[in-house]
Amino acid sequence: MEVLLTRQQIATAVARIGQQITKDYAGHSVVLIGVLKGACLFLSDLARQIELNATFDFIAVRSYGTKKQPSGEVQLIKDVTTPLRDQNVILIEDILDTGLTLTFLRKHLQGHHPRSMKIAALLDKPSRRAVPVEADYVGFQIPDKFVVGYGLDYAERYRNLPDICVLEEGGQP
Ligand code: IMP
Ligand code: MG
Repeated sequence: MEVLLTRQQIATAVARIGQQITKDYAGHSVVLIGVLKGACLFLSDLARQIELNATFDFIAVRSYGTKKQPSGEVQLIKDVTTPLRDQNVILIEDILDTGLTLTFLRKHLQGHHPRSMKIAALLDKPSRRAVPVEADYVGFQIPDKFVVGYGLDYAERYRNLPDICVLEEGGQP
């Protein structure tokens, strides 16, 4: 598979985002909320680059429709268990694509009444956006290609690849 982003490039971007978050929230604590399962690796590496009082939680959703034609329907599968009221929440996502997932999650988490909420997305495909949502912290803007690795899957495979690769057209190499 063609490597789009090497593990070194990923590590550099994750360190940069971690330093920025450390600076932006100096003197405050943060709750990092990872979107299962894709954001697991990003959260675990990013957390170690954040020099703040930080706690973790996880949330999971299911999206309907296909990759090309998302229906826009997103369903919550697992909510957070940490009380978020008056907390500084940072939602951690692997990739921002159409924006439907993060729009849903942002609205859902606002219902928990955090003090503040920001979004960190490792990857961003701006050309695919169907609803207006932007991340506050972005690792890389990428073209409209389907990528796998570093947490990102195709039918649950390839999450364990250390680099981010482009999946060939038409499926499994
Ligand atoms: P959105 O709701 O369209 O923004 O989609 C976000 C979700 O779609 C991500 O959390 C991923 O699970 C999935 N996704 C979007 N693009 C890709 C990709 O290129 N590779 C793997 N998963 C992707
Ligand atoms: Mg996924």
